[in-house]
Amino acid sequence: MKKETLIYEGKAKKVYSTPSPDLVIHEFKNDATAFDGQKKGTIEGKGTVNAKISAAVFKLLEDAGVTTHFKELLSDNEMLTYRLDIILVEVVVRNIAAGSLAKRLGYPEGRHLKEPIVEFYYKNDELGDPLINDDHIAELGIASKEQLAQMRAMGLKVNDILKKFFDSSGLLLVDFKLEFGTHNGALMLADEVSPDTCRLWDKETLEKLDKDRFRRDLGKVEEAYQEVLKRVESKGQGSMEKEPLKELGLKAEE
Ligand code: TMP
Ligand code: ASP
Repeated sequence: MKKETLIYEGKAKKVYSTPSPDLVIHEFKNDATAFDGQKKGTIEGKGTVNAKISAAVFKLLEDAGVTTHFKELLSDNEMLTYRLDIILVEVVVRNIAAGSLAKRLGYPEGRHLKEPIVEFYYKNDELGDPLINDDHIAELGIASKEQLAQMRAMGLKVNDILKKFFDSSGLLLVDFKLEFGTHNGALMLADEVSPDTCRLWDKETLEKLDKDRFRRDLGKVEEAYQEVLKRVESKGQGSMEKEPLKELGLKAEE
């Protein structure tokens, strides 16, 4: 499958049309932004790390019965996916207080939450992606009640799977952001799952191994991304490759 025209350029990816109207190619960039694009930079190797980690995660989720836009990895930083109509809601799932939740609730970063918290944000750069609730979503008409319920359930299911997956790589899944879209009416997980969109801390040292190193100028940004890829790829070597779900104590969807 080859790239045709550039149809969209985001902060971290370019999206190209292909000869098939149903499929697009995402090219993952090394560009990094934070705080609604106010902070800009480059993280060498990020495109490759994020494409490879996202591919591994999407494959695992598909095996567990979560429908995603993923078709195949075409190169180190290019992914073939279904072409979706993106829903303008970002779904954040949290296990441990950090970032904006720690601020909002006055919690110290690192406090484990009693239950996972699911939040919705309005995907709107001009407004700075504000936190919204079910009623706001109904008012804006950006997702149906049924889609909202599905996105919440999928978010929690993805959390159950990824908590185990990252834990087996010695990483704590603190929180993450998901995006969804529809293809011929079917709801699919979209975008990427990577150190750009997840907070991942080393289980033993609690060292941050994600985009917070860039956001907060913590140094060793490239090294953190490479470390996460190394740990995820080392899972692909042993029994994980053959029966990843069984290895994580999860069941495949019938
Ligand atoms: P927050 O604590 O800043 O609200 O972030 C929650 C999670 O969402 C965290 O894992 C980082 C991710 N995230 C994105 O993927 N994109 C964004 O624009 C923001 C603000 C957060
Ligand atoms: N999406 C954010 C931006 O540039 C980046 C982030 O904090 O993850 O604006």
